[in-house]
Amino acid sequence: MQTIHIGILTLSDRASSGIYEDKATPEVERVLNSYIKNKIIYHKELISDDYELIVERLIFLSDEKKCDFIVTSGGTGPAPRDLTPEATEKVCTKMMPGFGELMRIQSLKYVPTAILSRQSAGIRGKCFILNLPGNPKAIKECLEPVFPAIPYCIDLIGGAYIEANDENIKIFRPKKKD
Ligand code: MTE
Repeated sequence: MQTIHIGILTLSDRASSGIYEDKATPEVERVLNSYIKNKIIYHKELISDDYELIVERLIFLSDEKKCDFIVTSGGTGPAPRDLTPEATEKVCTKMMPGFGELMRIQSLKYVPTAILSRQSAGIRGKCFILNLPGNPKAIKECLEPVFPAIPYCIDLIGGAYIEANDENIKIFRPKKKD
């Protein structure tokens, strides 16, 4: 089984300056550990909501650390410093808008303010980048509906082959034609 490299980039002015504890990063790690069977090497960074810095770290995680998958958490809302989707778009060659659409639809079951998240997803080389909101509770609420399509998406861009823990999540790969 291949080893998977996953970047977790957490964006928060307050958590990165120590005003409160970062609960999003461990929650992303917990949920992904429950879904993925492969050995995972995590590359974790907690930074402020600084556009140029987000762009730089996304490029570093995808190009230097060779992440197959990067999950961002935070900075997707309407506030002036919420710029994660813009930074994601800047570094991606292709956006995958279906991920944001599905996460918002599913999140409306939990909070009416789900529509305030501009979260999206995109591709940079062989790396798939997914935005999640910063609320730790939102991590599983958003990952659960979209995760089934992520391993096949990463197959299609030439990334590592992800195998899932069937008892926790059912992923989907279309059957190959003969
Ligand atoms: N989605 C889910 N599933 N659960 C949540 O609690 N919070 C919403 C929204 N999406 C939320 C959610 C709120 S209140 C905001 S402001 C936006 O995500 C943006 O959050 P962010 O700026 O931390 O990314």
